[in-house]
Amino acid sequence: PKIAALIPAAGSGTRLGRGPKAFVEVGGLSLLARSVVCLSPYVDEVLVALPAGMQLPNGMQARAIAGGDTRQASVLALLQATDADVVLIHDAARPFLPTRVIREVADAAWAVGAATAALPVADTLVQAKENTDWGTLTPREGLWAVQTPQGFRRTALLAAHESAQQEGHAATDDAGLIARLGQRVALIPGDARLFKVTTPGDLALAEAVAAVWDG
Ligand code: CTP
Ligand code: MG
Repeated sequence: PKIAALIPAAGSGTRLGRGPKAFVEVGGLSLLARSVVCLSPYVDEVLVALPAGMQLPNGMQARAIAGGDTRQASVLALLQATDADVVLIHDAARPFLPTRVIREVADAAWAVGAATAALPVADTLVQAKENTDWGTLTPREGLWAVQTPQGFRRTALLAAHESAQQEGHAATDDAGLIARLGQRVALIPGDARLFKVTTPGDLALAEAVAAVWDG
């Protein structure tokens, strides 16, 4: 199958506070460049959704389109810009993609229809009451924290996005749009290094990973 990597990178990075997040550098390389370099060897094309008016840095092996106001809108625009059989959706904000995860997500996407990297939850979970008090303990057995990359047969994800858009359903994640329609999503063991760079503290962690990163 023809495979495309679709990278939503059109966010403004408000919580990080360093301008558009995809262009923030760790270990001398931008978050976006790190994702592109990791994905390129395993796909036929790389498409990136950028903030309106911004361009790809020189030499980046990718095609850019303008993103939307939400991540969901940016992914829909990316889906409409490719004819690939399989799409791998990956947040630019997750700069460290192990090769094993890319391969397993892509294979399962084609075989099952949809697949996502995810990690079994290791911490004790509690539902808070009055915001900051211990409320109800939630058993963590069988709970996974969802990451990206997420892989799909393109036509299935496009249909899921179109129905979500029609119904005004907002989602932070693409696999959830497939699951919502009752279709299977395979959980592929992810990697702690796939954490999302969201806050300034995450940047310090990313610098530490960059110093020892080997894919
Ligand atoms: N994203 C996007 N288009 C948007 C919003 C987000 O392509 N309109 C992308 C971001 O660039 C990022 C991924 O979706 O790669 C996950 O979003 P998030 O971590 O929330 O990044 P930002 O929206 O940039 O950060 P913040 O919410 O702090 O502003
Ligand atoms: Mg955001």
